[in-house]
Amino acid sequence: MREGTAPLIQRLDYQQPPFWIRKVDLSFDLDPAKTLVTSKMQVERNRAVPHGPLRLHGEELNLLRALINGAGVSFRQEGHELVIDNPPDDDFALEIRNTIAPEKNTALSGLYTSGGSFFTQCEAEGFRRITYFLDRPDVMAVYTVTLRADAAKYPVLLSNGNLTSSGTLENGRHFAVWNDPFPKPSYLFAVVAGDLVAREQRVRTRAGKDHLLQVYVRRGDLEKTEHAMNSLIASIVWDEARFGLPLDLERFMVVGVSDFNMGAMENKGLNIFNTSALLASPATATDADFARIESIVAHEYFHNWTGNRVTCRDWFQLSLKEGLTVFRDQEFSMDMAGTSSARAVCRIQDVRQLRALQFPEDSGAMAHPVRPDSYSEINNFYTATVYEKGSEVVRMYQTLVGRKGFEAGMKLYFERHDGQAVTCDDFAAAIADANPGSALATRLDAFKRWYAQAGTPRVKAHGEHDAAARTYTLRLAQHTPATPGQSDKLPQVIPVVMGLLDRHGAALALNANGDTETVLVLDQAEQTFVFEDIDSEPVPSLLRGFSAPVVLDDGLSDAALLVLMRHDNDPFNRWEAGQRLALNRILHALRAGQPLQLSPVFIDAMRGLLNHPELDAAFKELALTLPGEAYIAEQLDVVDPQAIHAAVMAAQQQLAGALRDDWAAAFEANQIAGGYTPDPVSSGKRALANLALSMLVLDAQATGDTVWPGKAYQRFKDASNMTDRLGALAALVNAGAELAAPALERFHALFKDDALVIDKWFALQARAPESEGRVFARAKALTKHADFTLKNPNRARSLLASLCMFNPAAFHRADAGGYVFWAEQVLAVDAINPQLASRIARAMDRWAVLAEPYRSAAREAVARVAAKPDLSTDVREIVERALA
Ligand code: PHE
Ligand code: ZN
Repeated sequence: MREGTAPLIQRLDYQQPPFWIRKVDLSFDLDPAKTLVTSKMQVERNRAVPHGPLRLHGEELNLLRALINGAGVSFRQEGHELVIDNPPDDDFALEIRNTIAPEKNTALSGLYTSGGSFFTQCEAEGFRRITYFLDRPDVMAVYTVTLRADAAKYPVLLSNGNLTSSGTLENGRHFAVWNDPFPKPSYLFAVVAGDLVAREQRVRTRAGKDHLLQVYVRRGDLEKTEHAMNSLIASIVWDEARFGLPLDLERFMVVGVSDFNMGAMENKGLNIFNTSALLASPATATDADFARIESIVAHEYFHNWTGNRVTCRDWFQLSLKEGLTVFRDQEFSMDMAGTSSARAVCRIQDVRQLRALQFPEDSGAMAHPVRPDSYSEINNFYTATVYEKGSEVVRMYQTLVGRKGFEAGMKLYFERHDGQAVTCDDFAAAIADANPGSALATRLDAFKRWYAQAGTPRVKAHGEHDAAARTYTLRLAQHTPATPGQSDKLPQVIPVVMGLLDRHGAALALNANGDTETVLVLDQAEQTFVFEDIDSEPVPSLLRGFSAPVVLDDGLSDAALLVLMRHDNDPFNRWEAGQRLALNRILHALRAGQPLQLSPVFIDAMRGLLNHPELDAAFKELALTLPGEAYIAEQLDVVDPQAIHAAVMAAQQQLAGALRDDWAAAFEANQIAGGYTPDPVSSGKRALANLALSMLVLDAQATGDTVWPGKAYQRFKDASNMTDRLGALAALVNAGAELAAPALERFHALFKDDALVIDKWFALQARAPESEGRVFARAKALTKHADFTLKNPNRARSLLASLCMFNPAAFHRADAGGYVFWAEQVLAVDAINPQLASRIARAMDRWAVLAEPYRSAAREAVARVAAKPDLSTDVREIVERALA
């Protein structure tokens, strides 16, 4: 959306709509240049609110006519609204006719063309770019959709629900009529028309119903849909088994599109996917891609209940569907992974993601609660806070009421609210009411502060052992830092899953029942918990499984961390202890302004992990990967991206050299014979082998050895799957090896016709560790590459987001070159696609914590962008919040 000033929309201003639209008959005469849309709506007054005019939303529409009960009606256009001042009191039929220009729609919101086909994207407010409507999620209607188009160019015509008729028309055109029996908000509406092919599968569910599953893609991509189809089938089975939620449609369709702003969209019965979240083959997709596809296919499918059957009353409630659905897809991925170690690997990856993306968001200019209080552009609030922190909030419900209790709560939620548009309060009430007397129900109001307060709480722990009394007293204190617009915070309800170990690593009984694990509920600013019959000073293992989205300072010594790293039976905390050991060293060096020197104790501990006979390769890979630069920055009050990068590079170099022989052994030990499967065991081995290879090439660069770079190049050439090929290429590129250039060239030549692989090629170069400005210069030059375009979001992000958001040392330059580049690109993208531009604009969220000279230069660049008069409301909101 583009206009001068956009109003700030406030959560507390919510009012029911003055009218309901119960039924819609939509018809489309599809043409890329000019599509005719006819909408016949059945409208009724909402008697619960005062009489008023009918105001319909509409943007970029060319209105042809408006009729009420078949007769012309007077109306006026006011900004982005069509106002009918005197509609009838009784129910009436409203007919709107308008045209739109899909091929000119580069914002990819509403109806647009991609690769010669038509697609829609209506969440959050895209439907108003198709026709005039009450485009808000609490207005739910039954849709019947007629599509008419050229039969040769657009043989496939799809919309939500069931196909009720189809046939041929004059002039080589044809038609299809679709009906969706479930009332839905306009944001779940979808249309697809084009020359597509489908992989099909018929399934019979537990309930004995037959369903047709279809995955539609461009001709030529069909072989890359097998994994998505398998993921869909697994999701259907899981949701029925775990939550008793069946598939409610005879037909469930998934469609891939190359131009898409997000990962995927849960339109009722017709999910639309970014091809990057759908297509996979061993030769073109990595293990990480396979895992991501499985989780996004599941996510969109799970929305069918959490989002579609029960939807959001207003957009402030977005986390009602997104936090809950992320939680569900995370649980699904863990259940699919199987073993407890593979589950822990999933959990660690999710937490790493949260810390890398959500924690910085929560301490920057865009910090907002899981349920925001105001926005000017809702698209800016599809954030890590709403999604990932929202999921952690749902996880805390489960921790507080138990798994069975949570399932009972979900059941009650659907009993109460199926078919309704509701709020986060309704969800909280259902979970609490199903668990009376629980740790949740007795503190529900305080627990709900998780929806209201932004910022990551800090929890400080201090333990004291009393040898004479044989007691251990644990004092926990919490504090949530101030965030924009919220200076004072109340205590949060924080479930702390914990155990105690003796100094040999044995689990201690925490109570008379002999339990070795318990949940402490911290709900005051400060609280103490006393454990009896503790003979000697124990090592506390706190926040197991990352039981709450907080930063924990437990003040543990290296010796205590080593006990946890070797013996904790909570695999998450084992990993965490290793990360803390590394983090402590890096932070110490940064704070002291000294070069980083890893200690022999740390090196030995890492060696012990790498050579451990029982631990899984996937776990080892996570444990031996140093904390990310963004997470390290989070721990510091003043951030010098160059100093952080130097410290991490030094740590990596030392780890590479000190464990040289161990890396070589790990590389050899984790080779896989036989064909490719993306299962957790094989992908863990590939991950560890790739880490080992990158360490070996890095070390070789330092010592002048040429054997490992040569081996890496050979492996790159001979690889039989993308994980190994990209891993070897990354080892060369990230180490700055001479063989990187020919390898990159060869990779491009091999995959020049596969856009998703070329995206990886751009991203790898833009994310490479900076060294003397070479990476920045290369990334800038790549914007002139023949394959680069700002029009395709995947391609634009592969270069711009990689450089500006995920490569701090290349981006934050003393000469401010990164900021100048950022400003140019944000403005260029904004003219094409505001949603995409505002994502990239967020690279400057945390300018205020930067050290000089970065801080002043960054602020200046943001101010220069903010000074442009015709910014989209999307980008304007981001830069103005940054400057506030
Ligand atoms: N609702 C989608 C999801 O999370 C995300 C999305 C939002 C897609 C807005 C497109 C536009 O599954
Ligand atoms: Zn979602």
